[in-house]
Amino acid sequence: MKFKNKVALVTGGALGIGGSISREFAKKGASVVIVDINEEESVKNKKRIAEFGGEAEVFIGDVSNAEVIKKMINFAKDKYGRLDYLIQNAFGVSDPDSSLSGSAMTVSEESWDKGMALLTKSLFLGAKYAADELIKNNGAIVNMASVHGLVNQQENLIYESGKTMVIGMTRQMSCDFGPKGVRVNCICPGLIITEKTEKLWPEDSNLRNFFNQQYLVRRTGKPEDIANGVLFLCSEESSFITGQALVIDGGLTIQIQENFGINQAKYALQNPDIPTF
Ligand SMILES: NC(=O)c1ccc[n+]([C@@H]2O[C@H](COP(=O)([O-])OP(=O)(O)OC[C@H]3O[C@@H](n4cnc5c(N)ncnc54)[C@H](O)[C@@H]3O)[C@@H](O)[C@H]2O)c1
Repeated sequence: MKFKNKVALVTGGALGIGGSISREFAKKGASVVIVDINEEESVKNKKRIAEFGGEAEVFIGDVSNAEVIKKMINFAKDKYGRLDYLIQNAFGVSDPDSSLSGSAMTVSEESWDKGMALLTKSLFLGAKYAADELIKNNGAIVNMASVHGLVNQQENLIYESGKTMVIGMTRQMSCDFGPKGVRVNCICPGLIITEKTEKLWPEDSNLRNFFNQQYLVRRTGKPEDIANGVLFLCSEESSFITGQALVIDGGLTIQIQENFGINQAKYALQNPDIPTF
């Protein structure tokens, strides 16, 4: 098993992309620390992992709190005696918090601080407090960015700026950690259908089909698509890769926008029943 005797800490590891990352690490032999604010779903994921003979522990806490970050790293060391991989993934994209949306004209200073505490400061602190352990074990960090860190949407100042900064932080951390034996990369997912969004846009719904059309591979992503990327970026097979933003988006962002727009318009004309959202 690829990650036998290794320890991975996954923030937001209960559900969605993080839930899958936790399970995939455990399938490959790693012991996993699931860090999340959702106790019920964290325990469920730990049980799912136990069912296939995997090993996981749960640590409940909000990673936008600096004390929680220190404690989660110590928890991993206390439980498993080491930490090899820090996967910084937590963010509630599917929990609409309207105070986080808006432009520089409308977003409040408080919302900015709150959003950035989760999107960026938590990643800085995670790297800071895990550094000794990761350096000792020649470990790796994978940060979760987004295609929203590469291309932008209106009225979404905090998320778009935060994810752009995740890519920048990843590059900077790779410069500082690389010579010490720790690689730092990030992933930019396209639309990944999770347990939460599956309920909003079930398979074969009009809106889901509309989304599928936007992707060159004619489907949206699955959490495992991202988990596979994370495991690769932690593995020996990627030992010459650091400072990168791996785009896993079924070709969404490489399309020329005029062409993309025309195709979308054609699809909308042929399928007038697409709901708005
Ligand atoms: N799903 C997508 O389409 C998509 C696309 C691009 C990027 N992303 C990024 O991937 C990551 C995961 O997204 P997802 O769609 O799986 O989200 P999700 O909402 O399905 O799961 C997020 C998990 O993080 C936990 N969480 C939320 N806030 C937390 C906090 N403050 N502290 C600890 N845990 C917290 C939640 O309880 C949940 O278990 C996020 O960073 C998101 O920005 C998602």
